Amino acid sequence: MEALNDPAIRTLLAQRLLAHYQHHGRDLPWRHTHDPYRIWLAEIMLQQTGVKSVAPYYQRFLNRFPTLADLAKAPLEAVLSLWQGLGYYRRARHLHAAAQQMMHDHQGTLPDQYDRLLRLPGIGPSTAGAILAIAFGQDHAILDGNVQRVLARLLALEMPPDSTSGKKRLWEVARLLTPTGQAGFYAQAIMDLGAAVCRPRQPDCPVCPWSFWCQANAFGRPEAYPVTKSRVAKPHKYQFNALIIRPDGTLLLLPNDHSELLSGLWHPPGSEFVLSPTPPDPEVVRQWVMQELDLNVALPVMLAPVHHIFTHFRLTVHPMLCLWQSGEMAATTPHRWIDPINDQTTPIATLHRKVLQIISNRQKAPS
Ligand code: ADE
Repeated sequence: MEALNDPAIRTLLAQRLLAHYQHHGRDLPWRHTHDPYRIWLAEIMLQQTGVKSVAPYYQRFLNRFPTLADLAKAPLEAVLSLWQGLGYYRRARHLHAAAQQMMHDHQGTLPDQYDRLLRLPGIGPSTAGAILAIAFGQDHAILDGNVQRVLARLLALEMPPDSTSGKKRLWEVARLLTPTGQAGFYAQAIMDLGAAVCRPRQPDCPVCPWSFWCQANAFGRPEAYPVTKSRVAKPHKYQFNALIIRPDGTLLLLPNDHSELLSGLWHPPGSEFVLSPTPPDPEVVRQWVMQELDLNVALPVMLAPVHHIFTHFRLTVHPMLCLWQSGEMAATTPHRWIDPINDQTTPIATLHRKVLQIISNRQKAPS
């Protein structure tokens, strides 16, 4: 876009956006602080999650871990517990590891240098830029998903934002547009513009401070941008979960240590993922429990399936209710028997909470 070569137009774009932000910017909990720890935490939580979902987690997290030192010395399990339901648990593990690294290497403070921030787990170029701009007042650009969309529309960029050339061009423009001395306000202003005005669907172009210069708007097709690589359907996988219940009502959980996706969290024993949608044969599940866990259970009963969407695939879980009959878990196999209805402390991913919910629903249902 030629106009961006003109510094006067760049200044005008930044000024108009900042003026819009002053009137319409959102009042968010992390905007009342300059504490780098709190700003870092917010940016990590906001990486894959919207503002509305993050706000209550953010407050609870800070009540429990008011300082970086509190977070670093907490057990990972306590951190994962507070993260339950927010998803993308790798962020929580990285947060915890980064806090420990900062205690060890940076005297318990967030580094205020780009390359040092980038070396911490969970911090990429956009998050590092946001922390430096917002917490330390340095001139750094950001380019998260919202900003990619805003800029791709401004330019009517004909490349997908996550392609190598698309990314390069968007970072160039992100840097060009970031006004010297006001990068922190500008970062928050452009994020708000993406969330509230330049929305993925039905963007509100009439109220946008940039609509006059926006190429996608000029073409009359703002929603056609950003262009996408042809969308590949997510594969659909299937699995059964054995919900093994003892006579006292407790349910068997195992720690997840084989899948990076949900590591550190607890789950009911489950089969490998398969591509066949055929529900499992109860007798096969009974045998499987015997072979895998050495427990003898009554013929399992299939409960309502649970569906979940992960980043790269969709999953359907067939919960199989298995009433324990005999056998003990080997003391050498890590496991827990929990109260599936009232347990509050075990970190369990949203998917498996949904699976356990099926048991509560069943117990509440009139017989
Ligand atoms: N998304 C990522 N960082 C954000 C912030 N600081 N404010 C609002 N939305 C955001």
